[in-house]
Amino acid sequence: MAEKWIKVASCAELPVGKMKRVDIKGHRYLIANAEGEIYAVDDLCSHEEVSLYLGCIEGENIKCSLHGSRFSLKNGTALEEPATEPIGAYSVKITQDLIFIRPKN
Ligand code: FES
Repeated sequence: MAEKWIKVASCAELPVGKMKRVDIKGHRYLIANAEGEIYAVDDLCSHEEVSLYLGCIEGENIKCSLHGSRFSLKNGTALEEPATEPIGAYSVKITQDLIFIRPKN
């Protein structure tokens, strides 16, 4: 199957510490610049359906604003309860100052 990359932002839109929410075919993704590294994960917390965009970046993790669970931006692992299920983490590539992600099929 061919790899499908979708452009989600320019690098200028996402300086260190910034996040952006994008909708691709009805699925929301969170794009985050954590310490200069760009990550793409599901926008919805796996505990309750709250947008992680409302949370904050802590190191290489995203912290949910509602109950404080943290998720790895690298691989989506839930690092703290009450969330126990991971969120999706997606491949990112940067080409000519544009950020692309490989979303769910
Ligand atoms: S909704 Fe995110 S930790 Fe509860």
